Amino acid sequence: MKRYVVIVTGASGSAYGLRLVEQLLEIGEVTLIFTKMGAEMTAYELGLMVPADGGRDAVLRYLELPRDLPLRVVPSDDLFDAAASGSTRIDAVVVAPASMGFVGSLSGGLASDLAERAADVALKERRRLVVVPRETPLSLIHLRNLTTLAEAGASIVPAMPGFYQRPGSVDDMVNFVVGKVLDVLDVDHELFTRWRG
Ligand SMILES: Cc1cc2nc3c(=O)[nH]c(=O)nc-3n(C[C@H](O)[C@H](O)[C@H](O)COP(=O)(O)O)c2cc1C
Repeated sequence: MKRYVVIVTGASGSAYGLRLVEQLLEIGEVTLIFTKMGAEMTAYELGLMVPADGGRDAVLRYLELPRDLPLRVVPSDDLFDAAASGSTRIDAVVVAPASMGFVGSLSGGLASDLAERAADVALKERRRLVVVPRETPLSLIHLRNLTTLAEAGASIVPAMPGFYQRPGSVDDMVNFVVGKVLDVLDVDHELFTRWRG
């Protein structure tokens, strides 16, 4: 079974992270880490309150998924968690949405909490790391930090929904971006119809 880490930061677009968790739970185990601001943004944008000491039940209830699915929700201040160690077998880490603050910390190698450390470990272990930045406009600092992450091996999948699919809802736009992330992870999905596919 595949093992994934999903990190939700305090950028706008918590829906991307939650949709991704829903999809990845169909094929593997997921460790979900909210930054402090990520949890606050999720409460604000989606009405999902994530308790500081976890939140597994709350997340599964929100996603309307069975309670026995292999989801762990780990507080970002728990640096003793398995996701902090390079010796733990993890197939991929996705940061969705990724704030510019997180991108700056990661590109600087800070690893000052579990979210930053889990992404940092993916880079050092040469594992798949997908970063879904959400900010506009982008400063030169943001662009340089994203370039640093791409140079270090991360895939940058900006939260930029396409319109050639003629999205009819916010859900369609979320699905487009999350589908692009799944494409990078080589995970089959039916979140959007492929162009003349
Ligand atoms: C309403 C609101 C929207 C925000 N949207 C973004 C955003 O889209 N991108 C971003 O980089 N930061 C955004 N921020 C700022 C981040 O939340 C802030 O930089 C925070 O420190 C990120 O912390 P984290 O990376 O630890 O989650 C927003 C903040 C608020 C209050």
